[in-house]
Amino acid sequence: MEISVVGSGYVGLITATGLASKGHNVACIDIDKDKVDMINRAEPPFYEGQLAESLDTYVRQRANLRASSDYEKVLSSEVTFICVDTSSDSGENADLSHVKQSTKRIGEALSRKEGYHVVITKSSVVPGTTEEIIIPLLEQYSGKTVGKDFGVAVNPEFLQEGRALHCFLNSDRIIVGEYDQRSGDSVQRIYNGFDAPILRTGIRTAEMIKFASNAFLATKISFINEIGNLCKKLGIDVYEVAEGMGHDPRIGRSFLNAGIGFGGSCLPKDLEALLHKYEKMGGKPAILSAVHQVNRAQPLRMIEIVIRKLGELRDKKIAVLGLAFKPDTDDIRHAPAVEVIHQLLLQGAQVKAYDPKAMPKMQETFPQGLEYGDSAKDTVEGCDCVLILTEWDEFKDESIYTGKIVIDGRRALDPERAKSICQCYEGVCW
Ligand code: UDX
Repeated sequence: MEISVVGSGYVGLITATGLASKGHNVACIDIDKDKVDMINRAEPPFYEGQLAESLDTYVRQRANLRASSDYEKVLSSEVTFICVDTSSDSGENADLSHVKQSTKRIGEALSRKEGYHVVITKSSVVPGTTEEIIIPLLEQYSGKTVGKDFGVAVNPEFLQEGRALHCFLNSDRIIVGEYDQRSGDSVQRIYNGFDAPILRTGIRTAEMIKFASNAFLATKISFINEIGNLCKKLGIDVYEVAEGMGHDPRIGRSFLNAGIGFGGSCLPKDLEALLHKYEKMGGKPAILSAVHQVNRAQPLRMIEIVIRKLGELRDKKIAVLGLAFKPDTDDIRHAPAVEVIHQLLLQGAQVKAYDPKAMPKMQETFPQGLEYGDSAKDTVEGCDCVLILTEWDEFKDESIYTGKIVIDGRRALDPERAKSICQCYEGVCW
């Protein structure tokens, strides 16, 4: 099929590349000309495993993936995905300005299109957004009527950073929220070559599936962190508890890794957006609020442990290993490291940080006040305490920690072995 994808950020470019790998002809549309040029040179605009090789294959060799700043590309496609960013500068509520702007431009292009077209929301938008904002804007700017001249669908993504292409191509489920059957049929055709169950629902339901899924994952993490905080007091290993719980297929072992808490561009943002929507609808969400509260408190627990070990932090040398919100990405959005470093600096500590990928992004957040190391070993040299905030493989090398005071936020080390190597080893929840 001929497909256009608006927005070449994380979700857009992975979607476009994944669809190109299934033989579709895909046009990426982005107003950022630098990003467009990079894609057309087969250079990934952000770090994501496998993306570089895939761009090389589909942009250079097979030439079925192209980028442009021109919304006219909508006209030569049958369907258009909206994949623009919904994160706000403040990081609080979702920001719909890019969604609205791109929807208007798609609408304008559709006013010149002959024949049927389907617009698909892939950006994460709270339930009601496609019906209340996107469809009215498309009708207004195209002068056409939904259900007659064009179709609309919602097709949420469930991509995990670091393995996003794999997630796209090996999805557990494909959700197609359809305005009407014709819209849904078009989306289903896109996914013909995929080996995944396709669930066809209404538009609002599809939007909610995305938010409920992320909120549930966040709940699992905050739940195990709360249990972990109690386990630590009782001298019980929460990882053994998670193992024991996880054998029950109704519970499952995944997302029960206790520690410093969840970050990233999705879980925190989607949870907050759902909380906000709940309150806007006149309710008081008990579980969602608690999930949020527990997650905000976990980084502070680490600071409490550091103070318990070192006393006053003024002028203490703290090595921070891991800045990205999880391994295999350079993304620091809502990363626990940001809050931990902020607290350490507030208390006058001297912080030296290291991350294999995320240091350039961290330098934008903390241009001053923070020193950066060249390697994990270099970073911990001469420090009073080491904090592990991301479980990168290279931080699992125990020789880094000989004789050190180590506080592990991610269970990067085996506690028993670590205790025999470190001067002192403690985990956030163990
Ligand atoms: C998440 C969802 O998994 C994905 O389906 C959705 O589309 C986007 O949001 P992602 O943000 O890439 O994906 O990260 P994920 O792997 O889910 O991890 C999120 C955060 O939770 C990370 O900070 C991770 O370290 C933390 N986490 C995860 C835990 O603290 N414990 C766990 O058991 C699992």
